[in-house]
Amino acid sequence: MPTAVTDGLPPGPRTPAGVQTLAMMVRQREYLERSRRRYGQMITARVWGFGPFVIVADPALAKQVFTASPSALHAGDHSPLRRILGPNSLLGIDEDRHLEQRRLLLPPFKGQRMQTYEGLIEEITLAEIASWPSGSEFAVAGSMQRITLRAILRAIFGASGTELRELEELMPDLTARGSRLATLTHLQRDLGPRSPWGAFLRVRARVDAVLDRLIAMAKDDPGLEERADILALLVQATHSDGSPMTGEEIRDQLVTMMAAGHETTAHQLSWAVERLRRHPAVLARLTAEADEGGRALREATIREVQRMRPVIFFAGRYVMAPYELGGYRLPRGTRIGLAAALTHFDPALFPHPDRFDPDRFLDQLPDTYSWIPFGGGVRRCIGATFAHMEMDVVLRTLLREVTFAPTDDPPEGWRFRGVAMAPARGGRAIVTRRVRRAAPAVVPAAV
Ligand code: HEM
Repeated sequence: MPTAVTDGLPPGPRTPAGVQTLAMMVRQREYLERSRRRYGQMITARVWGFGPFVIVADPALAKQVFTASPSALHAGDHSPLRRILGPNSLLGIDEDRHLEQRRLLLPPFKGQRMQTYEGLIEEITLAEIASWPSGSEFAVAGSMQRITLRAILRAIFGASGTELRELEELMPDLTARGSRLATLTHLQRDLGPRSPWGAFLRVRARVDAVLDRLIAMAKDDPGLEERADILALLVQATHSDGSPMTGEEIRDQLVTMMAAGHETTAHQLSWAVERLRRHPAVLARLTAEADEGGRALREATIREVQRMRPVIFFAGRYVMAPYELGGYRLPRGTRIGLAAALTHFDPALFPHPDRFDPDRFLDQLPDTYSWIPFGGGVRRCIGATFAHMEMDVVLRTLLREVTFAPTDDPPEGWRFRGVAMAPARGGRAIVTRRVRRAAPAVVPAAV
């Protein structure tokens, strides 16, 4: 018997939009969990600047949405990041244009290429942690940000020397201004260099000038084909009609990868430290494994950190024409949020979801539509394998080099930091240097 379909939105909290917006900003997990208990696996939230927002917590519905036709559900042209990242940004386009750019960007991120970058990431991590204080408490967040920024600039942008230094100075400023302005569309007007948007555009122009130099240098590089950085591959990539990617396309995609991949990975690593200091038994097993050259538990741990502390709570889609989902025909203009922050805590999917338990992923990979820290379908995070490799190498290096003092402090809360959810206190840590065998040989940087 066909099931009835209701035109309109599923139920959700009736509190004023202002209250819900505030709850989403400061008490997201509690607000979402309370709403799920009351309204089930589909909840309509009312959040300022978003219009109707249907939060989905059920993996079967997530699968339907992730695999829907790209013309039925958009993700790009209604993204608040569209104007920030540029007209070609993968995060800001849809349908054929999106698929075409994605086809160009995917080959450099293929799994087997990733080990090329391991030596470089290890080198960057060792340089950063050399200045960590021994025996006194500090937040690891700043270090994680510097490591992941440098990793992207070197491995993806192929930057070194002057260009690396300039971008290391400009990029944090660009990200901070861009994430502040992304949802404040009324401020997106150039009223001169002192206006927020005017200042943002001027920083972006300086970034673009450095990127233009990097692109020109890559095009002139006689050793281009031997280079391992992703810019070198993009310079050689061709559209389906045989034409090369334009400078603007390459620039927008580089800025997009930086915006999408820098803070996300940094916060995820800070969460790893936050979790591990509160689970000394896991920490001890990981250290022994790293010393023996293993990686299985570390990989499971990364997946468990991403389950329990996803840094992006929702993968978003936008309904282009009335769309049937879970017994509702959602009107055009509805936003759908596939909520990692809910599926990851469903006891039917992950027994004892509030328990940090990497062993749950030791012998089995997580399910594609229940474990969704990287989203899914044709919009799934293009940098997922890069991010996983990077987190693996950074953690391995930390485990080999320092001992983290365990703590029985309460867990750090969540804090929204512009792009992603970070540990509220930045991942506080106390470390001591390990006295052990000679330092591991650092593989020379591949790029
Ligand atoms: C732990 C680190 C990361 C997390 C948690 C993360 C998460 C996500 C999520 C949730 C999406 C949206 C997927 C969807 O809508 O279904 C996404 C998209 C994307 N991510 Fe990541 N990401 C991470 C690291 C990276 C890195 C390192 C890069 C690049 C170097 C990157 C580049 C991108 C790009 C370009 C997209 C847009 C894909 C598209 O629209 O086709 N991300 N990411």
